[in-house]
Amino acid sequence: MPPEVLAQAADEMLDWPDAQGKRCGMGVMEMSHRGKQFQSIYEQAEADAREVLGVPPEFCILFMQGGGLAENAILPLNLAKMGMADFVLSGSWSEKSFNEAQKYCDAQVAASGKADRYTTVVPPTQWQLRKHASYVHVCSNETIHGVEFQQLPDLKALGSDAELVIDFSSHVASRAVDWGRVGLAFGGAQKNLGPAGVTLVVVRKDLLGHALPICPSAFNYQLVAQNQSMYNTPPTFAIYMLGLVLQWVKRQGGVAAMESRAVQRAQLIYDTIDSSSLYYNPVDKNWRSRMNIPFFLRDTSLDAAFLAGANERGLLQLKGHKSVGGMRASMYNAMPMEGALTLADYLREFEKSHA
Ligand SMILES: Cc1ncc(COP(=O)(O)O)c(C=O)c1O
Repeated sequence: MPPEVLAQAADEMLDWPDAQGKRCGMGVMEMSHRGKQFQSIYEQAEADAREVLGVPPEFCILFMQGGGLAENAILPLNLAKMGMADFVLSGSWSEKSFNEAQKYCDAQVAASGKADRYTTVVPPTQWQLRKHASYVHVCSNETIHGVEFQQLPDLKALGSDAELVIDFSSHVASRAVDWGRVGLAFGGAQKNLGPAGVTLVVVRKDLLGHALPICPSAFNYQLVAQNQSMYNTPPTFAIYMLGLVLQWVKRQGGVAAMESRAVQRAQLIYDTIDSSSLYYNPVDKNWRSRMNIPFFLRDTSLDAAFLAGANERGLLQLKGHKSVGGMRASMYNAMPMEGALTLADYLREFEKSHA
């Protein structure tokens, strides 16, 4: 979270001020979601999401609950009108999406990078896409394996009429989305957009209204859209925080500024790792993530000392995900360049002292 957003939330916690600075006598957590105060917070957050992410008018923006994992079920329940969905497996998250969707539709793997331990992605021209699939699911940034699509696949050019669905949870608002190629995008807010508890769904309007009869009403995209994401009580505080983060992104210069910072941070860390003989990153250079950089020490007996030294310097949460081990530097939008510089210095220093 950007510190100035946290400071603003702290200032407004007990008594929220409106756009004119007039305090209303209650905090956001105490507001009715149907009252005029929260209504204005919601409308501003939605407008800012549209502006920051460049969402065209033919798409609607939904704020849902359940996180990315719930969307793995909600998606086939809403979109698998032909009963079929194809999946591109590029890491743990797309694998989870595929496993969940199998419960609700005929899900099939169009391509899998598993044999390469998810260090690369099968090129789109080699994907086995089915003619009647309703959608093709791609995780555009694999948070655990550190694999990121540098551009979204053009399904039409690949001869497919399916809709492209992207899970952009862990790199949303760090690069522009080519909405012309996308039918639906979803992401939990908790990396680049705010705290956990709200899931952003951006869906083209013509895809609404095809839910299976067993789809729970609260997860029916059309009902959620018709009710301005208030079919049931929305996660009001998380939406408010997401709104503050989006305003911060705008003040910084928008997604273009976020992207250029991400490129600089990632370049520095990859260069440091690639020029070292102690660390390595196994991911194909064409698919390396700017947000999540997994790396390993060639001598794993040094892992504990590396992490202890990092903690002493305030470099926190560097331990890799338990499923892959090693280390992972997750550098989301709010990470200042100084964070990346401190990490690069520490990487070099630790290597020198263990040469
Ligand atoms: C790319 C991606 N998809 C889905 C998820 C799951 O999100 P949630 O924990 O909000 O269900 C995560 C969580 O880290 C993620 O990184």
